[in-house]
Amino acid sequence: DTTAHEAVFDAAVAADERIEPRDWMPDAYRATLVRQIAQHAHSEIIGMQPEANWITRAPSLRRKAILMAKVQDEAGHGLYLYSAAETLGTGRDELLDKLHSGRQKYSSIFNYPTLTWADVGAIGWLVDGAAITNQVPLCRCSYGPYARAMVRICKEESFHQRQGYELLLALSRGTEAQHAMAQDAVDRWWWPSLMMFGPPDAESAHSAQSMAWKIKRHSNDELRQRFVDICVPQAASLGLTLPDPDLRWNEERGHHDFGAIDWTEFQEVLRGNGPCNDQRIGQRRRAHEEGAWVREAAASYAAKHGKATA
Ligand code: ACO
Repeated sequence: DTTAHEAVFDAAVAADERIEPRDWMPDAYRATLVRQIAQHAHSEIIGMQPEANWITRAPSLRRKAILMAKVQDEAGHGLYLYSAAETLGTGRDELLDKLHSGRQKYSSIFNYPTLTWADVGAIGWLVDGAAITNQVPLCRCSYGPYARAMVRICKEESFHQRQGYELLLALSRGTEAQHAMAQDAVDRWWWPSLMMFGPPDAESAHSAQSMAWKIKRHSNDELRQRFVDICVPQAASLGLTLPDPDLRWNEERGHHDFGAIDWTEFQEVLRGNGPCNDQRIGQRRRAHEEGAWVREAAASYAAKHGKATA
């Protein structure tokens, strides 16, 4: 019965054990995991678009090879995550359908344009840096398949973050125009990167429950603060500034204070009114339609192969 099941589940969570696909779990726990994992998976595959924009224009063969590898990694991350969601009984078709019809979200950050080559560096340094800060604690998430997927994803994200940092460093130390391009990219990506961590704790609908279930290990504001503290010295080593006049070390708190985030902009992006929302979702739908023949051929092959070996 449910009460006995619930007691076993609660004890496992309390003991920091992993919940596995065949274990009993509350319906709301399952639903919240599907929501978060789906949103995460969608972010990985939509996140391929802004950077893919620069593959044909990468300034050297070396940079192009690195960027292609990185964009392919994002596709792989999407696959691990859709597979993790499948272990909860939700198929990839259903999740993609919800993405395409706007019933599930993807990260706000991917609705901003990549205007210059330096944006590839700023995405690696800031966006992937924010993603790692958020995702390292998810390696200890109470749901086993999600936690395990995160281990490999974080290793790859850490390579992505370093390539972005190295790219920006090269530009920052380059000509005056290259330095200015790097600074402009950081100026545009800084605030949207802080928004990636989600709404402030007081307005975060799911945080309290997700933390009680040990899906989330830290609150949105805690992780945002951690990220700011990591970035400040890195910006200094890059020879770049962060576009926040209120950013300063607070000795008493042992953290950096930072300026107010424009939450209206965040809400607008979530509502579909960011600079690239229509373009991103339009491109995703098109890619899905154009790939229909591959899915059909694979299904047909599997059916024939299944019969032949039966
Ligand atoms: N972009 C889009 N939607 C967001 C964002 C964001 N940056 N932050 C929060 N939201 C949404 C939430 O999904 C939720 O909407 P919903 O109820 O329709 O699902 C709503 O805003 C309220 O937010 P919270 O209650 O704080 O939601 P939650 O507890 O899920 O926390 C967070 C949000 C921190 C993003 C969490 O879901 C998470 O850690 N997800 C996994 C990481 C991830 O998705 N990363 C993707 C970007 S990184 C990358 O792919 C490179």
